[in-house]
Amino acid sequence: KTLSELPHPSGRVPLLGDVRSVDRRRPTQHEAQLARELGPIFQRLLLRDRLVVVGGAELAKETLNEQAWGRVLVGPLAKLREIVTSGLFTARTSDPLWGQARRILTPGFSQASMRSYHRAMQTVADDLAIKWEKNPDVDVHGDMTAATLEIIGRAGFSTPMGLLGDHEAAPEGTDEFVAALSRVLAWASESTNDLPIVGPLRAAFAAPGIRRDVNYVRGFVDSIIERRQKDGSAQNNDLLGLMLTTRDPETGQLLPVDNVRDQVLTFLAAGHETTAALLEVALYHLATDPRIGDLIVAEELSGNRVLDYDEVVRLRRIRALINECLRLYPPAPGFFRIARSDQELGGYLVPAGRAVFVLSLAAQRDPAAWGSDAGEFRADRFLNTRLTASSPEFFAPWGTGPRSCIGRQFAIHETTLLIGSVLSQFRLTVNKPFELRLRERATLRPEPFRIVATPRGRA
Ligand code: HEM
Repeated sequence: KTLSELPHPSGRVPLLGDVRSVDRRRPTQHEAQLARELGPIFQRLLLRDRLVVVGGAELAKETLNEQAWGRVLVGPLAKLREIVTSGLFTARTSDPLWGQARRILTPGFSQASMRSYHRAMQTVADDLAIKWEKNPDVDVHGDMTAATLEIIGRAGFSTPMGLLGDHEAAPEGTDEFVAALSRVLAWASESTNDLPIVGPLRAAFAAPGIRRDVNYVRGFVDSIIERRQKDGSAQNNDLLGLMLTTRDPETGQLLPVDNVRDQVLTFLAAGHETTAALLEVALYHLATDPRIGDLIVAEELSGNRVLDYDEVVRLRRIRALINECLRLYPPAPGFFRIARSDQELGGYLVPAGRAVFVLSLAAQRDPAAWGSDAGEFRADRFLNTRLTASSPEFFAPWGTGPRSCIGRQFAIHETTLLIGSVLSQFRLTVNKPFELRLRERATLRPEPFRIVATPRGRA
């Protein structure tokens, strides 16, 4: 069968296609709903663009085969390319700079590197605890944005942002930098949900302000790089140090300085929204069901204390909790795969060069693979299961293949440490029960909410 024969949402309009089924505010959540109604693979036609959505676990697993399928730059990634052309995230795999940067930076995410970032991460966890001690009424969105940006700034570039205490240590202009960066990211990610005609209009109206912000952000990062080169600390043991001083083992070349700037921006952007989204989902579950945290404290955290690197690695229950959050609410709700040659997927012919959208959000909740309780939050399911290539479950919150997330271990270490530190010191609750609602820009992220953090001694 051909792709035009795929099931599609009801109410198709001549010429326009399936416009009625578009939910601009929650596109992937709506597609996950459609996957439940239409089955494991379906289409949505907008004007002449046919989006093929794969939402069933079995078919999604087939697209992980690197021989048959590859990665492609479309959707949010294409948009981000307008801001950072050749950062790791947005560069084409065929661009020699992508391979060079990936080889140079991979050691920056090794176990030894995580050990060296641990202290910087711990100082952020401490600052967060001091803030919550003073005010137990917690703005989760604001604090997780601050904590994750601060961690990537301190651990990645030895640059405090002054977002949680220690304001004086931040370089001049940091406030404006953080504000401009968040406007640029909001612009790039909001426009990813646009219908084809709205995009160019929005670009035309927003352009001057956004261009100013992009220039400011670039200038700020350049000044961090210059300072490092001048004061002799270029070889500092962090990501920026690696980028400025390590030669690519294959070509023997250093990264060009304008590429280093693209990489710094990439890490600031790719490293904080996703991680903040994950932490927020975790805090929601911990605060609405405090028994989860009580059990973790009883089994894995004894009393008020600072966690060292090895202790963080041993926090199995927290890691299971993180995996369950990533399964049900993947911050990157899906990714595109392109057929390297003609492929058959669920009985349909996907011609060579055709892209499909793998909707992790649906496939990671597929009851056919995860069981009848697939929709329930149950972190225990990750305690004793070891997922392998041949197990039926689909779990790919970090993407797949050579372009999968380079920051995975960094994100796992920082979130485990932050959650461990918070739980050992506070009992989390909510004032009134509420449902978790997710908004979509480039990431799937909870809408802002508040929790109450009561110091454990006083709980
Ligand atoms: C790529 C998810 C945290 C840096 C990716 C991709 C996913 C992902 C799904 C692949 C996207 C695609 O194939 O289109 C996540 C999640 C995170 C997280 C869920 C947190 C919970 C981080 C952190 C960093 C980071 C902390 C940096 C410190 C990157 C980079 C890439 C990437 C540079 C591009 C890699 C390449 O193409 O070579 N991430 N990420 N991520 N991530 Fe993450």
